[in-house]
Amino acid sequence: MSKRFYITTAIDYVNGSPHLGHAYEKIVADVIARARRSLGQETFFLTGLDEHGQKVQQAAVAEGKTPQSYCDDFAKIWKAFAARLELTNDDFVRTTDPRHKQVVQAILSKLHGEGHFYKAIYRGFYSTKEETFLTEKDRRPDGTFDPSYGEVTELEEMNYYFKLKDHQSWLIDYLEKNPSFVSPETRRNEVLGFLKHSELEDLCISRPLARLNWGIPLPFDPNYVTYVWFDALVNYASIPAAHADPTLIQALGPQPSISGSSLALWPADIHVIGKDILKFHSVYWPIMLKAMGLPLPKKMLVHGWWQKDGEKMSKTTGNVVDPIAVIDEWGVDSFRYYVLRELDIGPDGNWTDAGFKSRYEELANSLGNLVNRSLSMLKRYRNGVAPAPFNELSGEAEKVIAETRSLLEQNQLQAALLSIWSLVTRANQYVEQTAPFKLAKDPGQSTRLDEVLYNLTEVSRILAILLWPFLPGTATKIYAQPGLPGPPSKFSAATWGGLTAGHPIGIPSPLFPKKES
Ligand code: MSP
Repeated sequence: MSKRFYITTAIDYVNGSPHLGHAYEKIVADVIARARRSLGQETFFLTGLDEHGQKVQQAAVAEGKTPQSYCDDFAKIWKAFAARLELTNDDFVRTTDPRHKQVVQAILSKLHGEGHFYKAIYRGFYSTKEETFLTEKDRRPDGTFDPSYGEVTELEEMNYYFKLKDHQSWLIDYLEKNPSFVSPETRRNEVLGFLKHSELEDLCISRPLARLNWGIPLPFDPNYVTYVWFDALVNYASIPAAHADPTLIQALGPQPSISGSSLALWPADIHVIGKDILKFHSVYWPIMLKAMGLPLPKKMLVHGWWQKDGEKMSKTTGNVVDPIAVIDEWGVDSFRYYVLRELDIGPDGNWTDAGFKSRYEELANSLGNLVNRSLSMLKRYRNGVAPAPFNELSGEAEKVIAETRSLLEQNQLQAALLSIWSLVTRANQYVEQTAPFKLAKDPGQSTRLDEVLYNLTEVSRILAILLWPFLPGTATKIYAQPGLPGPPSKFSAATWGGLTAGHPIGIPSPLFPKKES
């Protein structure tokens, strides 16, 4: 059994509506997953929901529901959201799944048995909103806590701690020896800076039942539930364990609820996460894995945050971009194109409605126009039958194919789109230069017209394959119009000359219809 390429996203908090930021991260992971599959790698893509914690418990009570039924209602919305984005996730984890809970408990028992935890009293401040303990260091110069922590309460309680401190120098060493563990580089430097300049505090991994009961009980002390972040991070391992991943089964023993045949997934190849949760993923998670004796994920791919019109999106300001509303109006591929073309993986982005509209026009005027006029001319001048192959744009197309392949292998999605677009631009320029509409009027230019039409149709076919990971619906339509059996999901088909002479073409229709403004 060969190991699959295993990619995950952060699991979203269940108690809220999906917004642009959630959509962006999931689309980035989906493009990488589709690209890997297209390149011939067996792939497993996981996304899902983070459902425990005080916030969920409080919100459920406020709505007069049990936390479970509250989560079940929200989970329907989030699953529909994933489908609407056309995510190709292979599984969907919910931290309330029994298959997840049992792995969290198996890990806790193992670490407890091996002496990684101790019990101690905690006196200090707690932010329910962030589910985190705060110290004096977290106070602002005026003595208050940042409003992003929400209500902060003072408390004193006994809890279990995970000995993180012991692993600090190992982690620094690991990050230094594995430069690709956190990408981009700036984020790796951020983690290294943090680890080198401050002493790690041991991690509190429990919450007393008296204060919070919506969580996974500690297997060795029924008076406590598991801290949400410890619970949530384990999702990346619990789902492989539920698929009988051999590495996890070896570390934890067989798990009771195993579905289907065994899949080799661990270690994860990429965890796609936002910049705000970097510390959890590149400090706590590697240390948890090391303590469990498991290999570390290969990469944390850290993206930036979206703003709207230069401001933080917030429910109170009412400026949250609702992906579903945009998709309803403009189509899912226009949304996918905008976020991927606009923002590279790393920096922060800024959504503007005007920017979105101009990217839509760009799609219609460049890609849409190229495919539509190429196929329409073939229909009009050659009854929709492909002429014999002729290599005029083949060199340029092959250069873009090779470049796109390499960029996809490096998860450079924006750069790959730019490379693909250079072929779109070149082909549109070729139409202007060769003027097939003029050639069609001169019977003496019939062979030349055949040559031009072949090049345009073949470029359109290749573009469909290159664009498949990014714009799956559009790519499928481009492929279907020349009547090719789709979807165009195999990169290996992107070789010049794939379109054969005599192939009949269907009826072209606009890919990005003009919008009333
Ligand atoms: N539940 C935790 C993650 C646990 S992973 C083991 C969480 N959930 S979240 O719903 O708040 O965020 C989920 C993901 O969405 C995070 O990676 C976060 O960075 C991302 N985003 C949330 N708002 C965002 C933007 N405005 N822009 C881009 N991504 C943002 O954190």
